[in-house]
Amino acid sequence: MPDRRAGISRYEQKNNGEIRAVNHKAPSSKVISLTQRIAGRKAATEKGKREIRKSHTRVIAVTSGKGGVGKSNIVANLGFVLSRFGKKVLILDADLGLGNLDVLLGLAPKYNLSHVIAGEKTVSEIVIEGPGNVKILPAPSGIQELSDLTDKQQNRMFKALDLLIDSVDLFLIDTGAGISSNVMHFNSSSPEIMVVVSPEPTSITDAYALMKVLSLDYSRKHFKLVVNPARSSKEAIEVYKQLVLVADRFLDIEIEYMGHVLIDDNIKKGVKLQKVVSEIYPDTKASRCFASLAKKIFESQPSNVPEGDTNFFWRKLVRNGTRYE
Ligand SMILES: Nc1ncnc2c1ncn2[C@@H]1O[C@H](COP(=O)(O)OP(=O)(O)O)[C@@H](O)[C@H]1O
Ligand SMILES: [Mg+2]
Repeated sequence: MPDRRAGISRYEQKNNGEIRAVNHKAPSSKVISLTQRIAGRKAATEKGKREIRKSHTRVIAVTSGKGGVGKSNIVANLGFVLSRFGKKVLILDADLGLGNLDVLLGLAPKYNLSHVIAGEKTVSEIVIEGPGNVKILPAPSGIQELSDLTDKQQNRMFKALDLLIDSVDLFLIDTGAGISSNVMHFNSSSPEIMVVVSPEPTSITDAYALMKVLSLDYSRKHFKLVVNPARSSKEAIEVYKQLVLVADRFLDIEIEYMGHVLIDDNIKKGVKLQKVVSEIYPDTKASRCFASLAKKIFESQPSNVPEGDTNFFWRKLVRNGTRYE
């Protein structure tokens, strides 16, 4: 964030990587004292350094227009499979109303971010370990709690959360469904958005509505798409084509097909046992789909990530000021 008091309105990065502060208005007629200039330059360098802190971590919000399309199962299975592939994965259960990730994974988190906010626990103390060493970050009951903190408290917390995100390869956010402001906050704060859609017509129209709002109100232009549950790969591709057809006509967005998950009752058996299907039935239809999806994610390019701006998820979430693109 540029420091306007120091006379800086934005930062530019030169070809040689050097950060340059661009003065706010900076009228030549106004004399800026030397101390002010030095202070400005110092703030610019320090803030500039922070602004371009580049994280290697992929941050993907998994979302949907309609509920019950398998987001949590996808997040849990992707997390499990990717950690089997040797990736470090952190999952945030951000479905603040209907979060069930812990139930799916057979976990009972005692603490969540609210305890960190209250100063009772540290970030690392609330993180729990799920199947396959996946880390789970239990969400607070609302984002409001984070917004209510003072700047100093927020910064301390963001630093700890940034460190946690930086320590993993993939940060998956299991959001709620629909276009409520909470869901939009999580989606618009995430560098990458993966929409889950089922072949039902209502799910398709809701997925379209979600992408429309994210595109028109939050300037998001790239979406990854997963079809679940699909009867066949042909059916899944038809769903993708339908969405692309309307989106091409009415929206200026790009939809990237990531794949599908076939209907498989073993998923339900896993849910009952509170285990991910990829762990207990690794060779079933759904598990094979999750494995291909995981591979595809790491082959795909991270979208929406402007150079030097791959993180700051929490700052965006709480302040909701910075937008991509
Ligand atoms: N590919 C699939 N085949 C069969 N059942 C599925 C599949 N994907 C999800 N389900 C079932 O659908 C229900 C909703 O899944 P869930 O992951 O909780 O959805 P969401 O998080 O989107 O609300 C669960 O009962 C789950 O077992
Ligand atoms: Mg869910």
